Amino acid sequence: MKQVKNRNSASKLLILGTVFLFTFFNTVIAQEPAQDQPVEALETNTEEASSGGDVAQGEKLFKSLCAACHKRYKKAVGPALFGVADKYDRQWIYKWVKNSAELIASGDQQAIAIWEEYNKVSMNAFPQLSNADIDNILAYVMEPKAEPAAANTTVGVSGQTGGGVSSDVILGILAVVFLMLVVVLFLVNKTLRSFAEANNIELPKSEERTPLWKAFVQNQFLVLVSAIILLLASGYFVYGYFMQVGVDQGYAPVQPIHYSHRIHAGENQIECKYCHSSARVSKHSGIPSLNVCMNCHKSISEVAETTATEEYSKEFYDGEIQKLYKATGWDPASQSYTGDTQPVKWVRIHNLPDFAYFNHSQHVSVAGVACQTCHGPVEEMEIMYQNAPLTMGWCINCHRETNVNVTDNGYYEKIHKELSKKYGVDKFTAADMGGLECGKCHY
Ligand code: HEC
Ligand code: HEC
Ligand code: HEC
Ligand code: HEC
Ligand code: HEC
Ligand code: HEC
Repeated sequence: MKQVKNRNSASKLLILGTVFLFTFFNTVIAQEPAQDQPVEALETNTEEASSGGDVAQGEKLFKSLCAACHKRYKKAVGPALFGVADKYDRQWIYKWVKNSAELIASGDQQAIAIWEEYNKVSMNAFPQLSNADIDNILAYVMEPKAEPAAANTTVGVSGQTGGGVSSDVILGILAVVFLMLVVVLFLVNKTLRSFAEANNIELPKSEERTPLWKAFVQNQFLVLVSAIILLLASGYFVYGYFMQVGVDQGYAPVQPIHYSHRIHAGENQIECKYCHSSARVSKHSGIPSLNVCMNCHKSISEVAETTATEEYSKEFYDGEIQKLYKATGWDPASQSYTGDTQPVKWVRIHNLPDFAYFNHSQHVSVAGVACQTCHGPVEEMEIMYQNAPLTMGWCINCHRETNVNVTDNGYYEKIHKELSKKYGVDKFTAADMGGLECGKCHY
């Protein structure tokens, strides 16, 4: 009779435990998507939200119609659009985007205020957009800015970007495992007790029980398991931390002279090699000496009105050219050098550790890889930044994936046939040629 009662309470506990674990799991897991898509979460808060909106669709529309004047997180010709959905009534936004001039003309105070704040610059009318289209655009612009740190953590040694398991999920799983252990131990204890009672074995009375902490310390198994879990958890975080150290993706320091690749390499289409001439023939690409700048800037002492943007005025750019004159000792009035020079110390952005060997000419001249493949859209960069992670995984991945350029390549013309024979295929990757051998990249 007693035993039956005991089993009953044990199974009750089991059910209770399962329910508890289930709800716990649910809350942990359910929070995950909410973190990935805060857009939807935000929109359910605004009463007039008609639908979540399709972010991908919105991105397309935004890039083709709005990006000329708007950025998501920065002021451009028009205001930054991140946050607008919370700032204004949805119906008002529909009207504004479809025809802002009409709204201003109708005497809408809010519309007039924005228009005046932006020096009465008129925004285009978009009568062709439906409310759903505008919802999609809003879904896209309401996406929070991606943290650069988050991008870094996905770059591992092997360059493989796992499934993107977040630390919350891992922590949740660890917590669940721990809880399950506690429950199982409790059940085992309970069952053993009931067996003992059934067999009339003497057990210490509950008043004589050792306190919980003592029981814990005495239970070697429990201590061991806790220690392992603690070690695993801390190891996970320490590993994550160290994988980020030295990865400077996105690094964009302030330079002594504001030098814009957008204006030089982009708008004025000056070739990269005009300034970084050694990329073709040597290990280093190098930064040009100020003499190279002066080839042009003896005659260019100011920028055109149209070069200025909302963010950088003509006066600002002209001031930067004056810094170049000061550094080279050029006197524009007398059109001669005074001899009073000051060195300009450009802050180095891309920098591999000393133990890794990288050669520009091997990649640019021999392999024919475009600068942009590694350095990103340089011709659009107002401020230079590090585009690629420059980790070992990044180098290796590309060596695995990129076929060696053997056709139309003087370097390989003669040996192409021999190499093809050697590797038994017409195409082979940098990896096939030994591009994964440690010694190729490490001294
Ligand atoms: C030709 C440039 C231009 C284009 C293209 C443009 N806008 Fe605008 N937008 C502006 C300007 C300028 C303002 C500031 C108000 C004014 O001066 O009319 C503005 C204001 C806004 C505002 C109000 C923002 C605030 O914070 O007050 C919204 C919303 C907006 N635009 C949405 C859009 C959307 C959506 C598109 C694309 C479908 C778009 N705009 C395309 C120039 C533009
Ligand atoms: C008119 C000269 C000029 C031209 C043309 C030019 N650059 Fe530069 N580049 C510079 C100067 C000056 C710096 C150093 C200042 C800075 O980092 O913005 C630099 C810096 C860089 C850096 C970062 C160097 C570092 O410190 O790690 C890269 C990468 C780069 N340029 C790539 C390019 C590419 C690719 C092109 C062609 C699309 C190009 N540059 C065209 C002058 C030029
Ligand atoms: C081949 C010609 C050429 C060379 C070489 C050149 N520039 Fe320029 N630079 C220009 C032109 C063109 C403009 C833009 C004029 C305009 O928009 O009206 C400009 C604009 C500028 C500006 C104002 C815009 C900005 O980028 O901040 C600065 C500062 C400047 N150059 C610095 C440099 C420096 C430093 C070098 C050497 C590393 C250099 N330039 C090399 C042609 C050149
Ligand atoms: C295969 C990838 C790759 C390509 C292609 C590439 N770079 Fe680089 N670049 C790098 C790496 C990696 C570094 C860092 C090198 C170091 O620290 O030793 C770098 C550094 C630089 C620097 C800093 C100074 C230096 O030499 O270390 C400049 C400037 C530069 N690159 C310009 C260019 C230009 C211009 C081109 C195209 C002609 C180009 N790069 C093509 C990967 C590349
Ligand atoms: C965009 C693709 C790409 C990236 C990124 C890249 N490489 Fe390469 N690399 C190549 C190709 C293609 C070749 C083969 C060149 C040839 O034809 O010999 C090569 C060749 C080499 C070689 C010569 C291998 C041999 O067999 O002689 C070395 C060393 C090298 N890369 C180092 C690096 C390092 C270090 C990095 C990272 C900092 C890197 N590469 C990143 C494409 C890349
Ligand atoms: C294609 C070029 C390349 C090859 C091949 C290569 N490495 Fe690396 N390795 C690098 C670069 C670049 C770094 C620097 C990465 C950084 O700064 O994050 C690096 C870093 C390392 C580090 C320091 C830890 C780290 O990730 O920062 C070790 C250890 C290492 N490599 C070992 C090896 C071994 C062992 C091999 C052979 C199996 C090898 N590497 C092959 C390019 C290479």
